[in-house]
Amino acid sequence: MRSLIDIVDFSTEEIFELLETACDISENPQKYADRCKGKTLATLFYEPSTRTRLSFEAAMLELGGNVLGFSDAGSSSASKGESIADTAKMISCYANIMAMRHPKEGAPYVAAKSASIPVINAGDGGHCHPTQTLADLLTIYRELGRLDHLTVGCCGDLKYGRTVHSLLSAMGRYENVKVVLISPEELRLPKYVRYEVLDKYNMEYEETTSLEEAMPKLDVLYMTRIQRERFDSFDEYERLKDSYVLDVEKMKLAKPEMRVLHPLPRVNEISVKVDADPRAAYFRQALNGKLMRMALILKLLKEAGEGLQMTEPANTVTNTLFCDNPRCITSCEQELDHVFKCVEPTQGIYRCVYCESKKKMN
Ligand code: NCD
Repeated sequence: MRSLIDIVDFSTEEIFELLETACDISENPQKYADRCKGKTLATLFYEPSTRTRLSFEAAMLELGGNVLGFSDAGSSSASKGESIADTAKMISCYANIMAMRHPKEGAPYVAAKSASIPVINAGDGGHCHPTQTLADLLTIYRELGRLDHLTVGCCGDLKYGRTVHSLLSAMGRYENVKVVLISPEELRLPKYVRYEVLDKYNMEYEETTSLEEAMPKLDVLYMTRIQRERFDSFDEYERLKDSYVLDVEKMKLAKPEMRVLHPLPRVNEISVKVDADPRAAYFRQALNGKLMRMALILKLLKEAGEGLQMTEPANTVTNTLFCDNPRCITSCEQELDHVFKCVEPTQGIYRCVYCESKKKMN
């Protein structure tokens, strides 16, 4: 079935249609109150979540549908060693659509390949988080009235912050979007996002360690949390955890119409005093997340009814190259084929279809 694993699965036109539907839902909620009557959403959360899971559930309930699922892998058969593929096949018997969050990169893709219902990636490790991006796009669109001609600053943990990877992948499609990457040296944007997104879309970008310096240029400041759970070393996390704190003083450096976004949860990277500033858009962003997930559920269920299938990556090789990323789903599910897609034929560069790790074919 057609699924949403990565934001690149949707065209710019499809994203625009989702934005329009979400705006219409916001204005006419009654019109949508029964649209999913008799349908069930399963939420499979192998990692903690508040907003994403609850906004998915609220979205389905407000469309008149039902929800079931788990919010703790320990309470599911994953703790007994059940594979993602088996879980996906089984959930397909109980629900019409599923949203999955998993600490291993590529897990929702594995689920989508085995399920007979649409699968939505609700965050896979440090890889991507396409539905957060849908919420972010709706927020920028509603707050600033456009998605093009913007300077977007991404600040914090750009290495492990999956929301930033997906957001850049979406913003690259719009005209004249400049990016300012603000992070400590150790948490810079991964190279694959730089090559596959910034370079591919020819996006103008600069890197800095100074939030103060970047502030006056920005139309959007996308703050992120330092992702404690993804660090290999606790000392390294301790050293970097207070790298950036957006406070009232720093807000004085920003344009009057600039907007602050944050996928939340925040730890200490935005002072609570900033919440009273009308430019702080992060709680409105959380509401937008529910609206976009409603639009997304409607779209995927409609397409499932029409029999639309997922597009498979082209030019792949199976069990020829092997992924050694410890965060990839192949590292824990031994029976999975290692599949790589060719991204640069002249140089023999391949990427793992699950986690996008790079390999060179000799
Ligand atoms: C984000 C996530 O899970 O990646 N949260 C969310 O979905 N709203 C950001 C984070 O956890 O820092």
